[in-house]
Amino acid sequence: MRSEGSSMRHAAIIGWGAYAPPAVLSNDDLASVIDTNDEWITTRSGIKERRISHVTNSDMATAAARHALAAANLDAGDMDLIIVATCSPDRAVPSVAAYVQRELGGLGATMDINAACSGFVYALSVANGMIAAGTADRALVIGAERLSSFLDLEDRTTAVLFGDGAGAVVVEATDGPEGVLSSNLHSDGSLTEILTIRGAGTEGVFAADVPTTVDMEGREVFRNAVTRMGEGAVVAIDNAGLEVDDIDVLISHQANIRIIDATAKRLNVDPENVYTNIHAYGNTSAASIPIALSEAVDQGVVKPGSLVAMVAFGGGLTWGAAIVRWGDRVERLRTTDSRLPGTDKTGLELLADRVQGLGL
Ligand SMILES: CC(C)(COP(=O)(O)OP(=O)(O)OC[C@H]1O[C@@H](n2cnc3c(N)ncnc32)[C@H](O)[C@@H]1OP(=O)(O)O)[C@@H](O)C(=O)NCCC(=O)NCCS
Repeated sequence: MRSEGSSMRHAAIIGWGAYAPPAVLSNDDLASVIDTNDEWITTRSGIKERRISHVTNSDMATAAARHALAAANLDAGDMDLIIVATCSPDRAVPSVAAYVQRELGGLGATMDINAACSGFVYALSVANGMIAAGTADRALVIGAERLSSFLDLEDRTTAVLFGDGAGAVVVEATDGPEGVLSSNLHSDGSLTEILTIRGAGTEGVFAADVPTTVDMEGREVFRNAVTRMGEGAVVAIDNAGLEVDDIDVLISHQANIRIIDATAKRLNVDPENVYTNIHAYGNTSAASIPIALSEAVDQGVVKPGSLVAMVAFGGGLTWGAAIVRWGDRVERLRTTDSRLPGTDKTGLELLADRVQGLGL
């Protein structure tokens, strides 16, 4: 799918925010309960620790949304649309987006999008399309995941990779030079089985004892991710009428530091302009890009007028890229001191509550 940017009406990002659950699960914590070690995880993936949530997906999504709305100095009642990108919703019905609206208010449309780890780029593109079509003026676009619910601690090849979190942006219609200039979304349905979470849908009706865990062919995912994500980004840059060398900041899906490095090389982005936080959060799926974006703005990596490439890949196999020109403002108009209830538990203890026989 292709969409082109121009001086025509499109979406600009005017608010940003994130929520990282407080409980940390380090590589050493994992090594205390499964056959792995810090050195293997760090060198193969770049991950040092991840967060384990003590609250629901929708709680995290709501917390991130509050920060993004405050940064834009707007309320949920100003939103025509709330989209949550997620593959780990609280329930099949209603959507996480509906829960966010229940907490924050408003009567705009609500929906979730599942494009796995590409979900935020997909959701941003859908919001941009609805704004361009005139069906919305303002939207809250959230990526929120609670993948710890699906960790299989008997599968060390996947258990070490994922974590929980949420990030959000507020977008608003503009005719100006800033905003979403182009996006490029794809999927190869022939690769459905190389990255899947079984058991969370209705297939249990047809097959007994389907486990609810991540199932992944790591090398195949890696190979496809490097090729496809780079291709998608190059097409999106071209669709925006720009050159690869124009990109100032790369905000990649945080799945593996080696995949991020390969993409940065392909897009010729200097290492200091590649924002990474995979060491701190692991792979938070659809939440990873909005969390990284929010931190990159707050830390001054995204500057007024920066040309930002957001690139992602995930189960499907999906991939996509969005090219965004940042506006003049990199400061939050408002901040919020709204807090979720904390937890005294460690990441391991939270996992142990769910996983029988973890030995804690
Ligand atoms: C998962 C991934 C880090 C594995 O790295 P890799 O270099 O491909 O490693 P392999 O799977 O080939 O495993 C190499 C060895 O490490 C072992 N190993 C696997 N997981 C391990 C772990 N957690 N700790 C220690 N050893 C581990 C394997 O058993 C294997 O041992 P063997 O050679 O004796 O059989 C890598 O393939 C990857 O990142 N793929 C993409 C995953 C991804 O991005 N998923 C999310 C998509 S959104």
